[in-house]
Amino acid sequence: MSNDKIESVSPHVLPALPYAENALDPVISAKAVGFHYGKHHKGYVDNLNKLVAGTEFAHLLLEKIITLTTGKADKTAIFNNAAQTWNHTFYWSSLSPKGGGKPPAVLRQKIKASFGTLDACKKELAVTAVSQFGSGWTWLVLDGDKLKVVKTGNADVPMTTGMKPLLTIDVWEHAYYLDYQNRRADYVNAVLAKLINWDFAAENLG
Ligand SMILES: [Fe+2]
Repeated sequence: MSNDKIESVSPHVLPALPYAENALDPVISAKAVGFHYGKHHKGYVDNLNKLVAGTEFAHLLLEKIITLTTGKADKTAIFNNAAQTWNHTFYWSSLSPKGGGKPPAVLRQKIKASFGTLDACKKELAVTAVSQFGSGWTWLVLDGDKLKVVKTGNADVPMTTGMKPLLTIDVWEHAYYLDYQNRRADYVNAVLAKLINWDFAAENLG
């Protein structure tokens, strides 16, 4: 799955989860996925459709809406809901019931070149995720030919600053509060150990 090939236009559709709601248990419970996907992600899609109906954005691709509204004060609501729609679709694919483990060779080589070791890369993802103040996202991105870990606040996305996202971890409280309460670090470390989808990140290198 590559999100930059999504061709849906308004009305935007909530994409199916790439696995069952209970597939990430016990790291992320079925209840938490159910709320996160069925309420939060669906809510962003529904809001986006309402906001763009009858506007110049109504027939644009999701990524086009994001790039046209970023940084525009009078388009904040459209940007937030479009970006959160995109971010969540990307997040579900960044996780896998068979995640964790070792990245494919092509990605492993890039991780070695940019971070030294896989553990150093995972540590930087964890530290960055925990240090994001308030709501946001932590990303592994391709910046030029180098891998980097970056964080964004609220709905912001790395594409608008020229970086290519490879995978993401949602650090909004709604992503972990039902299972971990305020223990964001425990959620992030468990995701990195058991769910992170290196295959998806490797696919996004291409
Ligand atoms: Fe979320």
